[in-house]
Amino acid sequence: MSIKEIDKQYVANTYARFPIELVSGKGSKLYDADGKEYIDMGTGIGVSVFGVGDEEWVRAVTNQLTKLQHTSNLYYSEPCALLAEHLCKRTGAKKVFFSNSGAEANECAIKAARKYAATNKGAEYYNIITLNNSFHGRTITTLAATGQDNFHKDFLPLTEGFLYADAGDLQGVEGLLKENKVAAIMFETVQGEGGVVPLTQEFVSGLKKLADEYNVLLIVDEVQTGNGRTGALYGYMKYGITPDIVSTAKGIGGGLPLGATMLFEKTENVYTPGDHGSTFGGNPVATAGALNILERIDDEFLSSVEKKSEYIINELSSAEGVKGITGLGLMLGIETEKDVNEVLSYCQQNGVLPIKAKNKLRLLPPLNISFEDLEKAINVIKKACGVN
Ligand SMILES: Cc1ncc(COP(=O)(O)O)c(C=O)c1O
Repeated sequence: MSIKEIDKQYVANTYARFPIELVSGKGSKLYDADGKEYIDMGTGIGVSVFGVGDEEWVRAVTNQLTKLQHTSNLYYSEPCALLAEHLCKRTGAKKVFFSNSGAEANECAIKAARKYAATNKGAEYYNIITLNNSFHGRTITTLAATGQDNFHKDFLPLTEGFLYADAGDLQGVEGLLKENKVAAIMFETVQGEGGVVPLTQEFVSGLKKLADEYNVLLIVDEVQTGNGRTGALYGYMKYGITPDIVSTAKGIGGGLPLGATMLFEKTENVYTPGDHGSTFGGNPVATAGALNILERIDDEFLSSVEKKSEYIINELSSAEGVKGITGLGLMLGIETEKDVNEVLSYCQQNGVLPIKAKNKLRLLPPLNISFEDLEKAINVIKKACGVN
């Protein structure tokens, strides 16, 4: 049996995979089982920030791997402590909880907000306002946080206490704050799975104002937008706000599973021993790699992300068959005249691997992709979008 056939027979049927079996890569290049080369414009859904097999990251990871691969959280360990320190110094957060995925990072954020509200306002202040069209994960609670009914059906009842407003509708948010006992407002700065839709400055500033006025916490889900993806270290920084809790995952691990929940001033001391935990959370190998990744995402690097973003927008905004471009930094959604599946399939056949977000082509290339590879990929994408 081929790998595709074995996978189809034995792996749970939750993914509609493309007919490509990836076996290796280097930098922005990926290779399939037939040796075909692709330019990676998806990074495993926003994960491989420095591409495949990045030498510095591999060194950091393997150094730790040969020393000690796992400790549990019963003991101290250097990479976990240093990564937490680094994140706090870069963001102003006071404490970090480590987990293994975006959904878990959000679970920790939601628990922190509920405990903060229960302690400071009363246990009945458990509601969390999230946005329609958001995506926060696949666990029963993060599905409840996800404001898209199509993800909910068949899995009811979900965790209670989530209320939804439309992105951009400050009045709607205020209405929910007036009518309900609320712990927090939670949002992505760019709704990634929702179609790469950035929130407006006015809306984000307005949410911050409402959060202050109604004494509720602001949780920013930076699972996809974080770690340099938008051209800022975290997307919220582009909006000039300070949140109370920030969750991240994907890119921070550079390809190893890692989630982080950053607790700012108000929530610094919300957790006490026994409140939350994770066997693998803060794993020394994953955190050693993450520290290497974050140390390299400095201002100069972030400005190179912006330059690449401008290049893509310039090239594609006037291209035939492109209706519009949304997003920030190297997290871009291309609205095409043709059916997006047709565009994607042309790209795949011609050695370029973007992904989709709703009806858009989604570009999430390695942040250090060379201009040469970017140019090649954009040329194929232009041809894919054009009327051919
Ligand atoms: C904004 C956001 N939050 C949470 C998640 C869930 O992350 P994970 O799949 O690592 O659980 C995702 C995944 O796409 C995401 O984009």
